[in-house]
Amino acid sequence: MGQKGVHIEPAEGRLGVLLVGLGAVSTTFIAGVEAVKRGLGKPIGSLTQMGTIRLGKRTENRVPRIQDFVSLARLEDLVFGAWDIFPDDAYEAACEAQVLERGLLDQLRPALETIRPMKGVFDPNYVKRLHGTYVKERASKWDLARQLVDEIEGFQRERGVDRSVMVWCGSTEMHMVASGVHESLDAFEAGLKASDAAIPSSMIYAYAALLLGIPFANGAPNLTLDVPALRELAEKKRVPICGKDFKTGQTLMKTILAPGLKARMLGLQGWFSTNILGNRDGEVLDDPDCFKTKEVSKLSVLEHILQPHLYPDLYEGFHHQVRINYYPPRGDNKEGWDALDIFGWLGYPMQIKIDFLCRDSILAAPLVLDLALFLDLARRAGMHGVQEWLSFYFKSPMTLPQLYPEHDLFIQQMKLKNTLRFLQGEEQITHLGLDYYAED
Ligand SMILES: NC(=O)c1ccc[n+]([C@@H]2O[C@H](COP(=O)([O-])OP(=O)(O)OC[C@H]3O[C@@H](n4cnc5c(N)ncnc54)[C@H](O)[C@@H]3O)[C@@H](O)[C@H]2O)c1
Repeated sequence: MGQKGVHIEPAEGRLGVLLVGLGAVSTTFIAGVEAVKRGLGKPIGSLTQMGTIRLGKRTENRVPRIQDFVSLARLEDLVFGAWDIFPDDAYEAACEAQVLERGLLDQLRPALETIRPMKGVFDPNYVKRLHGTYVKERASKWDLARQLVDEIEGFQRERGVDRSVMVWCGSTEMHMVASGVHESLDAFEAGLKASDAAIPSSMIYAYAALLLGIPFANGAPNLTLDVPALRELAEKKRVPICGKDFKTGQTLMKTILAPGLKARMLGLQGWFSTNILGNRDGEVLDDPDCFKTKEVSKLSVLEHILQPHLYPDLYEGFHHQVRINYYPPRGDNKEGWDALDIFGWLGYPMQIKIDFLCRDSILAAPLVLDLALFLDLARRAGMHGVQEWLSFYFKSPMTLPQLYPEHDLFIQQMKLKNTLRFLQGEEQITHLGLDYYAED
């Protein structure tokens, strides 16, 4: 702990990582951690594993690795638990997802086979394209929440886990907006007992986690935590939460490029984005109700970064369209095209084309790792409620209702690193740097 730092409980013992959904992202994350532990690969894309942080003045040359600067759980101490609506273990699910090579998965098979999902809480009304066969018995939503609580406690007891975090890596649910049942914890609990239709499966998992004081990260664009009732529960139990929708692929590119265009005061007439995607996520998003959830998440990004109300000459009325096309031959290897119509000096038009041949789960897996480790850090540091400093990882960052979200990747990164400096009692870095040039 630094001089003015925050007291942080040590990262002793094992950390349970509870994953809702044992699909492409989850299995790529778990297999990746197992591969890294065995020296079979490197944790590329993970800030907690690869990143450094500058401390003090540039002349001090203090640039420790983040994992040496703040106390984070070690990969060896992670214990995985999962739910799914299909019974495949992590090895079978990883083979099915076809993200990682079979040769690598076979080397990890004994470890992966031990991770068998618990039966999911699922209702096809919220994800129409899936027909789960491995689903908890129909009971009231309240009973389902109680079952999850019992399972989590059993998992922690049996696996000797001291602390846990939960990350939603399940499918995208249909588009929903907050309503009366979400207004307060009391109304929400009454809604659980009445099996209110406005409470989708993801909220039942989040409720169970928060009740047990387990931090929750929402990797999908689902409404889940973004309602007063669950924020109230997070505050009551003093649990950190964050979301939503992992920032990978096309949106990652947008939040890298758009701040650059704005920094140079270049105008934007339109930004057209289309994707072809063939994994199960793509299939789920082929349903218009689920796509709507994703579309809302993807569309909000540019408006917030470009701030047309402040720069009407550059950005007022720009066209922004996003398409996702389910195209099975591509599997997890998505192709995202972007066509940008921009303009410069005296309004002269120019174009930028991007064709990102990316791998969705390869980009998402390190985010799951970082979120699990940082949420656990936040919990040990006594931080609770919405963790805006983790906006870096999300397409639609959660904030307090009165704040607008910060989408610019570079501001998000600065916020994240400054939070780590704050926790450790180090000075914030402003990049002013005038003192280097000051005369005595
Ligand atoms: N891969 C990326 O780059 C990326 C980026 C942003 C968001 N996401 C989101 O992350 C989530 C996971 O993506 P994926 O590619 O792994 O999808 P996937 O379809 O491979 O995996 C999702 C898994 O969740 C399971 N599931 C669905 N509903 C469930 C429930 N109620 N309880 C338990 N299990 C349930 C499904 O059976 C499936 O195995 C999706 O919502 C996706 O939109 C992914």
